[in-house]
Amino acid sequence: MTIARASANDLFKQVLDPVNRSNPYRIYEQMLANPVAQLDATRYVVTTYNEIIGLLHDPRASKDERKSKAQGTSLRDDSNPSLLFLDAPEHDQLRKLVIHQFTPERISGMQGRISSLVTEALDALRGQTQFDFVEKFAYPLPVTVICELMGVPREDEQRFHAWADMLAHNIEPVVGYDPAKKTAIQNADKELHTYMSELVKEKRAHPQDDLVSGLAVGNDPAGQMSDKDLITTLVLLLVAGHETTVNLLSNSMLTLLRHPFEWRKLHEQPERVMPVVEEVLRYEPPVQFMPRYALNDITLQGVTISQGSTIELLYAAGNRDPRHFPHPNDFNPERPNNQHFGFGGGDHLCIGAPLARIEVHTALNELARRLINPRLLADPPPYKSNPVLRGPQHLPLAFDRIAD
Ligand code: HEM
Repeated sequence: MTIARASANDLFKQVLDPVNRSNPYRIYEQMLANPVAQLDATRYVVTTYNEIIGLLHDPRASKDERKSKAQGTSLRDDSNPSLLFLDAPEHDQLRKLVIHQFTPERISGMQGRISSLVTEALDALRGQTQFDFVEKFAYPLPVTVICELMGVPREDEQRFHAWADMLAHNIEPVVGYDPAKKTAIQNADKELHTYMSELVKEKRAHPQDDLVSGLAVGNDPAGQMSDKDLITTLVLLLVAGHETTVNLLSNSMLTLLRHPFEWRKLHEQPERVMPVVEEVLRYEPPVQFMPRYALNDITLQGVTISQGSTIELLYAAGNRDPRHFPHPNDFNPERPNNQHFGFGGGDHLCIGAPLARIEVHTALNELARRLINPRLLADPPPYKSNPVLRGPQHLPLAFDRIAD
């Protein structure tokens, strides 16, 4: 028992260690041997598909850290959590109001704008034969899209980059107490809250057809958010939709260039983009794991998770569970029933999934059509340190030319 515990903890430490960021999958493979494992006195990790699905639908698995023994230890300020870190009924009410703003018309209405942004980014590469895919492509697209959808003035986008980058650390598991990091995160959070409060005032005075106006004016028959919840929700939307989509774009490009046959097929058959992106979400998910908190003792696979414990759901490991996905380490867009955890599941299933899919489908189709003979200049590329929102820091590529 003690040996098993020590080894699960040791493996999870390896997952968190930046030296393993470029390939955590061989560590997950070992962790899959123990579907539910104790890390220390208050933390467990769950790796297998069925157990993760079960917990995503288990009312005893909370998202509210304040109900756990981990309270106060995370890098974020948990005095006013966003809906991502709340349970029913508060979560459901806030989620409903947000979903009402993510109308299919508003999301599919972004399609034309996304196409123009992709075209502009590719046109700007004419005359060159090398570029950093993250810097020139994957990074600017989602931030511009989310700012336009929300109705954030374009000139403020640059400030958002820095805040969103800092707040992406909010969801990392804490490894040792780092007061400087916590202060930096809380300062970014405060600045972004102040910015959003000003924006809400502006939108209430001059509402437009955008998401911030929709939520700020608050004439949804289903109810209205308090000002405090409104600001926290807007900050969440900005951050949740940013780093994740950047990483899905970069992970897609990296995976396709590691599988040149799939790149060529995408060039020839643009309609393959849907299964390709779903397979990237399984094979290289931008969100690798997320916590839940046990409201009661929960017994799973013979292990009792004690009340108040943190349970890390290793989505990226469940996505490669051989009991659910045959040949899990093969990148195979033709895989049947590809029900992955790329967007989570259960009550907290990603709200932005339709938007992210439109962005990435549009971008990949245009890239496959216009970027001629792309090659990776570094494999593996350098990675960002974040073990949860995992993706390349840079993705240097060479290519022959940009087609018309
Ligand atoms: C490829 C891009 C994206 C990925 C991989 C992704 C992934 C996820 C995942 C895994 C969760 C569930 C977290 C959990 O289980 O605890 C989630 C929740 C969420 N996502 Fe996304 N996301 C993406 C893009 C977006 C975008 C573009 C937006 C908004 C504009 C967004 C907004 C949200 C929100 C609001 C939640 C919380 C839902 C809730 O708690 O009810 N996401 N996302």
